[in-house]
Amino acid sequence: MALEDKLDPEKSVDKSAKKRILSGMRPTGRMHLGNYYGALYNWLRLQEEYLCHYFVADWHALTTEYETPQEIGGYIQEMVIDWLAVGLDPEKSTIFVQSAIPEHAELYLIFGMLTPVPWLERNPTYKDQLQELAHKDLATYGFLGYPVLQAADILMYKADGVPVGVDQVPHVEMTREIARRFNHLYRPLFPEPEALLTEIPKLTGTDGRKMSKSYGNCIYLSDSPQVIQQKVRQMVTDVGRPFRKDPGEPDRCLAFPFHRLNLPLEKLQEIITSCRAAALGCVDCKKLLAEALLQNLAPIQERRRYYEAHPQEVQEVLHQGNRKAREAAKNTMAEVREAIRFNLEVQLP
Ligand code: TRP
Repeated sequence: MALEDKLDPEKSVDKSAKKRILSGMRPTGRMHLGNYYGALYNWLRLQEEYLCHYFVADWHALTTEYETPQEIGGYIQEMVIDWLAVGLDPEKSTIFVQSAIPEHAELYLIFGMLTPVPWLERNPTYKDQLQELAHKDLATYGFLGYPVLQAADILMYKADGVPVGVDQVPHVEMTREIARRFNHLYRPLFPEPEALLTEIPKLTGTDGRKMSKSYGNCIYLSDSPQVIQQKVRQMVTDVGRPFRKDPGEPDRCLAFPFHRLNLPLEKLQEIITSCRAAALGCVDCKKLLAEALLQNLAPIQERRRYYEAHPQEVQEVLHQGNRKAREAAKNTMAEVREAIRFNLEVQLP
């Protein structure tokens, strides 16, 4: 590249050299602060630098929700509205729905042929989930094969990096093993992707347990200001500070991780000092938090209202994203069929 070009910011970004990022989320409906700070915030950052693919893993949702599939469609819409509201940009990232790309199912089937069952049976995330969801019948083939489908998602777009939480690391590991096995058996086709583990802030729900839809302890991006104020008021603070006159410890306070994410550094310093000196009570301190949070959420909520009022725009984003993803998926499948010599020109009726 010529020096002038290197200095030209437009030209210095060599698109072909950009790393490819892929991640997905099961459609769970409206996004909460745990989803935002734990995943979406990171997705937003990555889309500025990399070629990003973000998708709705609706077939994965079906592995556990197969008894109530009719609910999944509504969850997809709500979730994608929040993705757009926080700033995922369809100009920068390919945003799509897994089940709109049937090639994922085809690659999943082929990977199923070369994945040893013991790899799936000893997957720690599988064992954890079986226990956690003991009330559901998950003795299914689909649930056991969950990571094989995930490998198909990732390798279809030849992703280099997969931003995920720790619970998903075994799945990315298995994806690498499946890629290696395919490359060894047929021909080198797939890169071995890496899990991009982000420093995920330890956020709890209003009751002190992990923030999760199933616990009903979430603060949603779309909650009204009144609801947010009320939920913040309920947050568990420092249990070692039973009285207002007792000195508190922000490191023990379950609300404080949210302060860290929402208040400027100077203000934080001030709060730490006055909490430890018992000069600031938890009620007032959480008022400061609620104010800052509402201010930070305001632009997100405004964009959300826009997309709620324009559902066809959301559909259009997905339509375009699906189209782009499908094109890439078709290319990969042509290579896969060629690699396994299944590229017969069969005349379909
Ligand atoms: N299993 C992931 C989760 O539950 C969702 C997912 C499906 C995914 N396919 C993926 C994540 C591919 C990253 C890459 O969070």
